[in-house]
Amino acid sequence: MKDKKLTRESFSGSIAVFFATLGSAVGLGNIWKFPYVVGQNGGGAFLLVYLICIAFIGIPVMVSEFYIGRKTNKNVMGAIQELTPNHFWKSIGISGLLAAYFIMFFYSCVAGWVYSYIFKTIRGDFANVTADSANALFGKTVVEPLPPLAWQFIAIAVVSLILIKGVEKGIERVTKTLIPLLFVLIVVCGIRALTLPGAMEGLKFLFRVDFSKIKPGIILSAMGLAFFKLSLGMGTMVTYSSYFTEDTNLITTSAKVSVADTIVSLLAGIAIFPTVFSFGMEPQSGPGLLFMTIPLVFSKLPFGYFLLIIFFFLTAIAATTAMISIVEVPVAYFTEEKGFKRSTAVIINAIIILSIGSLATFSADKGSILGNIQVFFGRGFFDTFDFISSNILLPVGGLLIAIFVGYFINKENVVNELSNNGTIKNEGIIKAYFLILKFVTPILLIIVFLSSLNIIKF
Ligand code: TRP
Repeated sequence: MKDKKLTRESFSGSIAVFFATLGSAVGLGNIWKFPYVVGQNGGGAFLLVYLICIAFIGIPVMVSEFYIGRKTNKNVMGAIQELTPNHFWKSIGISGLLAAYFIMFFYSCVAGWVYSYIFKTIRGDFANVTADSANALFGKTVVEPLPPLAWQFIAIAVVSLILIKGVEKGIERVTKTLIPLLFVLIVVCGIRALTLPGAMEGLKFLFRVDFSKIKPGIILSAMGLAFFKLSLGMGTMVTYSSYFTEDTNLITTSAKVSVADTIVSLLAGIAIFPTVFSFGMEPQSGPGLLFMTIPLVFSKLPFGYFLLIIFFFLTAIAATTAMISIVEVPVAYFTEEKGFKRSTAVIINAIIILSIGSLATFSADKGSILGNIQVFFGRGFFDTFDFISSNILLPVGGLLIAIFVGYFINKENVVNELSNNGTIKNEGIIKAYFLILKFVTPILLIIVFLSSLNIIKF
């Protein structure tokens, strides 16, 4: 049964597996979203809940997605159909498909901002930047309706071209060097930020836990961020692991990817929060936080002009590879299940994403043309797309995956796959995985859902 792996392309070794998977996980989630969501939710306490979600929900769900993908060597829809005749479980694929669209609606908008910041930096907009001017420039960037829409279009066009040309493998090779480079640059930002006056305040905000700040809504956001960060609950990791080799250790890979991804997020936090406090900005500033702080981090550095260009360039690359892994999900569905030509599928998806995603661009700020329209419990379009994907669809997908692998798959099959047919001696870890997957992950998920809907109260 395993011999089909001989004919299918796969990653060449454990380092390739690690970087490819990390390439999907690392993106705007680390550099843009993590800091601003931590900022909005009060810092250290949120971070603690986030780390707990990574350990008890993220890692077990990732291992389960790896199991499904490597066992079947298929994309998520095909994989589920191979593992069970029961149509109910197709809901995993459907919620994943919906999540891919909802994420892209706002992700492409933010990717557009990042692209535009490369251009603005080159043009010299950040020469002599101050906290006020950085703030004003971001406000201007998002409030004008047409330029951000054009940049969003460019971001979607780049992703579409890469997907049509099918050069993802080539792109992946490039990413393998660029992601470590981005990592180094964030470390430089972090060190620089720590030398700013008042930097300690920022660190305290990020790491000091104030338990009184832990509320159900915060726990839901932390959980949603964990799914979003690790690319879980949508089938992306199922697809990636379908290219893993037989000797990939699924459990250690998932632990390593989660830890590395979390380190990148924390470094971004260490670069941003000291800057926020040093310049007297608001940690609750929302989606503009990255764009208002990073120009300040580089402002007085030697070669700061070039470093800032490189920073936004590498962030744009990380955003683009993450988008490729998101859009690939509906594209694979349209081509493999519905018989569309690849280019047709890509173009249709690009049109859907740009037409609905433009609503995110038009509602990104209070001053935007659709900034005051509320669509979902007081949220505008931008926040609604984010909330529905990160806090509802991905966790629901994760819950279904956990229950499916925990309760509906023959345990022996899972044990075999996770121990690589007995070649890895990890019975104890597999036992712990099952215990957590069956009893902790789904129960935590359900409690978080019910409490955020106010159905149960603590
Ligand atoms: N994890 C990526 C980030 O942090 C975003 C992403 C890529 C994603 N693929 C995904 C999120 C699949 C959810 C599901 O930017």
